[in-house]
Amino acid sequence: MSEAVLQAVKVTGSGSISIQGLGKTFKAKKTEFRALANINLEIGANEFVTIVGPSGCGKSTILRIVAGLEESSEGEVRLDGELVVGPGADRGMVFQGYTLFPWLSVRQNIEYGPKLKGISILDRRRISNHYLRITRLERFANHIPKQLSGGMKQRVAIARAMANEPKVLLMDEPFGALDAQTKLEMQEALLEMWDTEKTTVLFITHDIDEAIFLSQRIVVMGAGPGRILREFPVTLPAERTPEVREHPEFLKLRRELAALLKHKEE
Ligand SMILES: Nc1ncnc2c1ncn2[C@@H]1O[C@H](COP(=O)(O)OP(=O)(O)OP(=O)(O)O)[C@@H](O)[C@H]1O
Ligand SMILES: [Mg+2]
Repeated sequence: MSEAVLQAVKVTGSGSISIQGLGKTFKAKKTEFRALANINLEIGANEFVTIVGPSGCGKSTILRIVAGLEESSEGEVRLDGELVVGPGADRGMVFQGYTLFPWLSVRQNIEYGPKLKGISILDRRRISNHYLRITRLERFANHIPKQLSGGMKQRVAIARAMANEPKVLLMDEPFGALDAQTKLEMQEALLEMWDTEKTTVLFITHDIDEAIFLSQRIVVMGAGPGRILREFPVTLPAERTPEVREHPEFLKLRRELAALLKHKEE
C-alpha cells in the first residue's frame, strides 16, 4: 500500500499493551469463579506475542478484556498508556467462527471498516486490493461468504481486521479449524501482513508449532486460577521460512513447551 494511503488510515500511536495486576472473578447468583489472578504482561509495539495454556486457564478471557468486551475485576489494561474501557477501532479482533456480514461481498466485507472511517472509494479500493492480494482472495472479491470455504472465510475475516489498520490485532485460535495446509499458508500470510503493517499481535493457540513459528515471545499460562507460569523468548531468525521448523532452537522450544504443558494438563 502506498505511504500516503497508509498515513491516511493508520490510527495514531504505536500499539503497546500493558496488563497490570489483572484479575477476573465471574460471579453468578450463589457462586463465584476466579478465572484470572494477578496477570502481568507488557507487550511492546509491533511485538508478536502468543499465549498458550490448558483449556479453561483464561486465555480468551484475557483477550476479551484487552478487546474491551469484558470488564476486569482487578487491575488494568492500557493501550499506549490509555486505560482500556471498551472496544475500539484501534484493536482488531479475529476469533474462531466467522463473523462476516453474509450479505456483503468479500471486497465489501474488507472495505467495511475503512468505509466507516470515511475513507474515499478510491483509497478503499486500494486497501481492499492490497489485502485481497495478501490473502490470495483476488478471484473471490465479488463472492458472498456462503460461496466460500471455511478457510477462505477465515482469510476474509483476517483481511477485514487488517484493512481497518488496527494498532493491535487480537487473535483467538484463528486457524484452529483449518486444514493443515491452509493453516500453514495462513501462518505465512499473517507473518507477511505483520511484517508489512507493523501491527502488534496478541495471539492464542493450542498448537505449539504454530506458537513457535509465529511468535517473538510465548507466554505459558496455568489454571486454577488462570495465571502466567513462564515466558519464553523465541530466538529464531526474524525471517520465518518453512525451514525454521527444523532449527535446533525450534525443536528445543517445542520439547520445553510440550513438557510444561503436559505437566499442566495432568
Ligand atoms: N461468562 C462466564 N461466566 C462464568 N465463567 C466463565 C465465563 N467465561 C469464562 N468462564 C470460565 O473462565 C475460565 C476461563 O475461560 P476462557 O474461555 O478464558 O478459557 P480458555 O483458556 O480460553 O480455554 P480454551 O482453551 O478452552 O478456549 C473457564 O473455566 C470458564 O468456564
Ligand atoms: Mg479460549
